[in-house]
Amino acid sequence: MTGYPVEAINLRRLFGDFIAVDSINLSVKQGEVFGFLGPNGAGKTTTVKMLCGLLLPTSGSATVAGFDIATQPDDVKRSIGYMSQKFSLYSDLSVSENIDFFGNIYGIANSRLKERKREIIRLTGLEGSENTITSALSVGWKQRLALGCSVIHEPKILFLDEPTAGVDPDSRRMFWDLIYDLAQKGMTMFVTTHYMDEAENCTRLGFIYNGKMVASGTPLEIKRSRMKGTIIELDTDSPSDALGLIREMSVIDEVSFFGRLIHAVTSVSSDGVRQTMDDISRLLQQHGIPVTRINTIPPSLEDIFISLIQQEDNRAAS
Ligand SMILES: Nc1ncnc2c1ncn2[C@@H]1O[C@H](COP(=O)(O)OP(=O)(O)OP(=O)(O)O)[C@@H](O)[C@H]1O
Ligand SMILES: [Mg+2]
Repeated sequence: MTGYPVEAINLRRLFGDFIAVDSINLSVKQGEVFGFLGPNGAGKTTTVKMLCGLLLPTSGSATVAGFDIATQPDDVKRSIGYMSQKFSLYSDLSVSENIDFFGNIYGIANSRLKERKREIIRLTGLEGSENTITSALSVGWKQRLALGCSVIHEPKILFLDEPTAGVDPDSRRMFWDLIYDLAQKGMTMFVTTHYMDEAENCTRLGFIYNGKMVASGTPLEIKRSRMKGTIIELDTDSPSDALGLIREMSVIDEVSFFGRLIHAVTSVSSDGVRQTMDDISRLLQQHGIPVTRINTIPPSLEDIFISLIQQEDNRAAS
């Protein structure tokens, strides 16, 4: 026993000879909001399923709530809540009936269930909507109710697999308030997402790509340790043409779109950055693309992850 609510050592999962999760290590502390990030197909759901005792690892090991995921999966399942990526409520049942349904699945006695239902209605902010048919709720409220149902049995650890995919920004913010509420009460939260604004607010992060953990730590640690070089941000009227031109410059290591802006990473020394910015402006000017703004910026998590992905792709291609 390590004392970590979630700990994985060299966890690996193959499907045939395809490596979906490649020897990842991670540990999550109690009451932490651990953000597990990665693009589509990175291996997030496969990892979560293993940690929830739903899928056996091919090799490696993990403990969740002190139980071994491979040899004690039923104890694991009893100790955790899991809001799966496809989690669905019964849309033709009312809010109250959905809570009852999940309470019954977890075998919660009726007297206790009544109390838990009141607590969950309060937690999710669904007071007054107890008898509303679930299909009439907005996506944001449905997600809150789903989270409420997944903690009906008061688990110590909650796994949420992309709980906010496709949810509008306001509802996402409200949903995250709920996540923090629960973490503050001591529940350990393991959340997968690909929204960077959500990642910025996690206690710690793990970033998975092609099944490999390519970075982990607090958002600040990751920014400090993983960003190589300086980011130059620029705005032009022809971003696609500008991107192509900048990519050809020998002093530029990476370049990508950031919304309609361009981020170019250079590893020239800090004294040389001014010169590089002038060179970019001149090059674009020569091609009839005026630069309306150019400056250096501190890296965001998104910059770092784009950079890590490019580094991994380059490694894989070489
Ligand atoms: N049962 C399976 N059989 C074969 N391949 C699978 C299986 N489950 C997942 N995979 C593959 O493993 C890889 C990782 O999938 P996974 O669902 O874990 O990714 P993810 O990070 O959750 O992606 P998303 O963001 O799209 O949900 C993908 O290439 C997927 O196609
Ligand atoms: Mg997934």
